Amino acid sequence: MANDKVRETDPIDSWMEVVLVYNSALKEIGTKLEILNDEFQQVHRYNPIEHIKSRLKSSESIVKKLKKKGYESTIENMVNHVNDIAGIRVICSFTDDIYNVAEMIGNQSDIKVLSIKDYIKNPKPSGYKSYHMIVSIPIFLSDKIVEAKVEIQIRTVAMDFWASLEHKIHYKFEGNAPEHIQQELAECANMVSALDARMLSLNNEIHSLADEGDDRY
Ligand code: GTP
Ligand code: MG
Repeated sequence: MANDKVRETDPIDSWMEVVLVYNSALKEIGTKLEILNDEFQQVHRYNPIEHIKSRLKSSESIVKKLKKKGYESTIENMVNHVNDIAGIRVICSFTDDIYNVAEMIGNQSDIKVLSIKDYIKNPKPSGYKSYHMIVSIPIFLSDKIVEAKVEIQIRTVAMDFWASLEHKIHYKFEGNAPEHIQQELAECANMVSALDARMLSLNNEIHSLADEGDDRY
């Protein structure tokens, strides 16, 4: 039947399907980001995205998270209560790029933005800064469409550098790092913000000079 198109959104019904669907979601979002970056390169001769990392949460981590939240380990609970089964980290050079990328992704008609947490405007007490979006995207399988959630973390190179070290320390001390280390980290977080601000203004200055140059005949 020509009109027999798959339209409805169906539930995911096995672990194999979870892996397939969320891996597909990572590919879809990854490709969208690459296309935006390529377009920027063509139009503005510059890349807002430095690089992209993606990962699928392990079954152990999913089960652990569900347990922590007080849910049984069922496929339904995974899909409904774990927002970061599929995770993408987008590393940008400058703070402005973060908001540009977030807006471009949010504006795409097949993407639904489910939530936003702006830890750049409102950093965590630890000093953590990053822009988080939970989005959902339809995945077209042979006989059904399923919606898959993806956690997108967007941050600068400097924020990423800080977050990796803080993560290591957090893991090492199981969340109870000595006071002086926490203080040192908080100071480093301030330095990250200062560095990002100075690099951005330097970049803007370079751009305005370059524009003047382009106008000369
Ligand atoms: P979960 O922490 O994933 O249960 O969800 P949440 O509702 O607390 O979301 P949030 O946006 O706070 O954190 C999501 C993810 O961001 C985490 O899984 C980490 O990857 C990262 N993240 C959040 N806070 C920190 C932090 O203080 N330090 C580091 N290094 N990463 C963080
Ligand atoms: Mg958290």
